[in-house]
Amino acid sequence: MISNFSYYNPVKIIFGKDTIALLSKNIPSGSKILLTYGGGSIFKNGVYEQVKAALAEYEIVEFGGIEPNPTFETLMKAVELGRKENVDFILSVGGGSVLDGTKFISAAIPFEGGNEWDNIVLRKTKYDKATPFGAVLTLPATGSEMNSGAVISKASTKEKYGMGSPLLFPKFSVLDPETTFSLPKNQIANGLADAFTHVMEQYLTYPVNAMIQDEFAEGVIRTLITVAPKVMKDSTDYDAMSNFMWAATVALNGLLSTGVPTDWATHQIGHELTALHGVDHARSLAVVLPYLMKYKKEDKKGKMIQYAQKVWNETGTDEELIAKAIQRTIEFYESIGIPTKASVYGVGEETIQEIKKRFTERGVIYGERKDITPDAVEAILRMSIA
Ligand code: NZQ
Ligand code: ZN
Repeated sequence: MISNFSYYNPVKIIFGKDTIALLSKNIPSGSKILLTYGGGSIFKNGVYEQVKAALAEYEIVEFGGIEPNPTFETLMKAVELGRKENVDFILSVGGGSVLDGTKFISAAIPFEGGNEWDNIVLRKTKYDKATPFGAVLTLPATGSEMNSGAVISKASTKEKYGMGSPLLFPKFSVLDPETTFSLPKNQIANGLADAFTHVMEQYLTYPVNAMIQDEFAEGVIRTLITVAPKVMKDSTDYDAMSNFMWAATVALNGLLSTGVPTDWATHQIGHELTALHGVDHARSLAVVLPYLMKYKKEDKKGKMIQYAQKVWNETGTDEELIAKAIQRTIEFYESIGIPTKASVYGVGEETIQEIKKRFTERGVIYGERKDITPDAVEAILRMSIA
């Protein structure tokens, strides 16, 4: 049975070729804009010029250098700039990291309580204001363009936490698949793996007969599997890139998780691997999910069988289908060049014990059945370094 739910998503999606030109129709005229970006990809692929041309009538202050896995330390510099310049709108131009960073900046600029790490990232205070922001997305992966969450890192303590608020939905997101043509193969693979894992976190739990959610989830995964070889081969394939881009958005805009159990343990463990070893977000997931599936194969049996049949067209006994579900998942990651063993990144027993300690101290237990305890995390990660 589908659980009671309310679903709210106010993000306007502006999708397709040449849509950056529509920015000025979507930002109140007269706004002073803080334009946020990353390490400079937008200068090499023409996106910056398109954005500047579209915003010729506006006063713009720029803040660049937001790094992948955006850090609190860097973002606070943008917050100070935004406060000093009294900006009324923020425009994120780049991938999920720039956009997540922008969400933090949006919440922090009007916040007067100080200690933004504790109050905003660790959610110790409820805030009621955020500077409005929009996005030009250049990397299909996170779904941040249509949700109200963000993941922020603290470099000084090697920590990474999710944050969010209903105030942090973008006002709009421009999704022009042509902006993704410049992506290097490793980032395309990351995007595919991240979006794939987002669906799995919301789908591979236990069956509740949520027919629409299951069909949608299976459809998004099948789409990702179908476009994967195409976008890996040719990043300028508009047809494949546009399907990839929309699939990645739908994978985490809240629709797939309406009224169904969700897992998210893979993400929580992955964040620690990124925080401690600098593993790319998507790559951190691929070294966890296959072993989480193995570890939880009794509890996840129903959905694993359904996944093997409906996504991968597999047949066989229940035991065979469960084995194929795990094998196909590993093969998918590996087919796009994403390793599935944590040992590749130098993760060993010491890291496992550190993660176990962190989760124990935080008192957190994850998974759809709330049984991914620190001991379970240890067992899962041990399989990934064996
Ligand atoms: O910084 P620049 O120079 O722009 O280069 C970036 C960066 O080096 C580059 N890039 C982006 N678009 C490009 C491009 N290069 C060439 N052409 C383009 N069109 O790609 C690199 C990676 O960018 P990043 O934004 O870090 O990647 P992604 O979009 O995968 O974002 C990852 C972050 O999002 C968080 C992750 O934890 C990680 O911090 N997530 C956010 C979520 C959310 N808000 O809902 C959910 C996710 O599960 C995830 O945790
Ligand atoms: Zn993710």
